Amino acid sequence: MHRKALVTGGAGFIGSRLARALLAQGLEVVILDDLSMGRRENVPGGAAFLQGDVRSGEDVRRALQGVDIVFHEAARVSIRASLAAFHDDADVNFMGTLNLLQCLPKSDVRRLVFASSMAVYADSPAPDPVSEDHPTEPISPYGIAKLAAERYCLQICRDLGIACHVLRYFNTFGPGQAFTPYVGVVTIFVRRLLEGQAPVIFGDGEQRRDFVHVDDVVAANLLAMNSPADCGVFNVGTGRATSVNEIARLLCDRIAPGCMPEHREPHPGELRYSIADIRRIGVALGYRPATSLSERIGDVIEHVRSARQVRQ
Ligand SMILES: NC(=O)c1ccc[n+]([C@@H]2O[C@H](COP(=O)([O-])OP(=O)(O)OC[C@H]3O[C@@H](n4cnc5c(N)ncnc54)[C@H](O)[C@@H]3O)[C@@H](O)[C@H]2O)c1
Repeated sequence: MHRKALVTGGAGFIGSRLARALLAQGLEVVILDDLSMGRRENVPGGAAFLQGDVRSGEDVRRALQGVDIVFHEAARVSIRASLAAFHDDADVNFMGTLNLLQCLPKSDVRRLVFASSMAVYADSPAPDPVSEDHPTEPISPYGIAKLAAERYCLQICRDLGIACHVLRYFNTFGPGQAFTPYVGVVTIFVRRLLEGQAPVIFGDGEQRRDFVHVDDVVAANLLAMNSPADCGVFNVGTGRATSVNEIARLLCDRIAPGCMPEHREPHPGELRYSIADIRRIGVALGYRPATSLSERIGDVIEHVRSARQVRQ
């Protein structure tokens, strides 16, 4: 049983939802976030908030006081931006993780759950689900840093006798994702359509993604927290493939019937096919995704619509 959790990046999209779920489970929660992307108002009532940087030893040591489990969500989250800003990406996603690991020996932490990504995998020749044994040959700086960070987490935690679970999230969608032009195709398309603009598809749109709802990602974290195993590396997705063209069509039909997406040059660094094989996490942790894209996409539309109304 864990009593006090640190959620780094807990003012962000996934971290804030996770923090809420941990509070509902009766844990004390502390959040460390530099608010570079997250927002103070995302921090759930009942959680302690420290504005600080995962790259700072002082900030991390302060956040770790009395903590027995860490969910490390803080990161720069854009594959596309990592191509140009590779130093900043590695500084936060890799060195920030190493800084956290360096602070663990003098803490009470007994378990670490690390937010990794489908970006650690090599591209796949066909739109088939990839298992955790698929070659890890990332094609973006973001993927390289996440892969290195997850390997350090497993190694250092093993040496320290701390349980470590690595969760490789696939494309996470849901209400509350911050808007940037680079992350979260569902949120980006919804926002453009609500502004009367056509969605922009990079490439032919036949790239396939596995869209997993943020509540399922949170559920996977809770299962990892309660797992009797000492370590594991798991995909967190749905096993279902959806093309970017399908998403665009679905959203156009719901928001602006008749709207036609625009196509532009594809971006380097992005996988053609990225679909999770979720058998391992199903067997080991009992994970079953409860929500599908078509069932819950309406929540995202409503959320973006009401956030726009607040701003206007
Ligand atoms: N959203 C996805 O589809 C997806 C997919 C795969 C993996 N992930 C991983 O999941 C985690 C959460 O992503 P998210 O979608 O909630 O993104 P997000 O940007 O909403 O959350 C990340 C949070 O980290 C904070 N942060 C960034 N740099 C920091 C620093 N130096 N110190 C402290 N806080 C810092 C940001 O302010 C933000 O609140 C990340 O590790 C991300 O790489 C997300």
